[in-house]
Amino acid sequence: MNWNNGVRQFHRWVSIFFTATVIANFAVMGQEAPPAWVTYLPLLPLALLLFTGLYLFAVPYATKWRGARRSG
Ligand code: HEM
Repeated sequence: MNWNNGVRQFHRWVSIFFTATVIANFAVMGQEAPPAWVTYLPLLPLALLLFTGLYLFAVPYATKWRGARRSG
């Protein structure tokens, strides 16, 4: 498994974790005083998704760029 695949799998599984934290937010919104820590829970996975997602976005362009440089 190469580096890009690892980042893709990480992005994939963190997205499931992120989804679970969003669902947890909907679950606690019904309460009178929703606990603040639950509302902050999605921020860590969202930050990880942002950076791994930007990496995944750049991969095809970096590959083309490197390919163009190799063939001169
Ligand atoms: C926060 C900013 C995010 C950015 C910049 C981002 C960007 C990307 C990019 C560029 C790809 C690869 C597309 C491709 O070349 O095929 C990708 C794949 C994916 N993203 Fe995100 N993403 C973000 C957030 C999320 C979120 C919030 C979710 C879901 C909750 C998510 C779920 C996925 C999934 C499931 C894939 C496919 C992974 C795979 O190929 O196995 N992403 N994302």
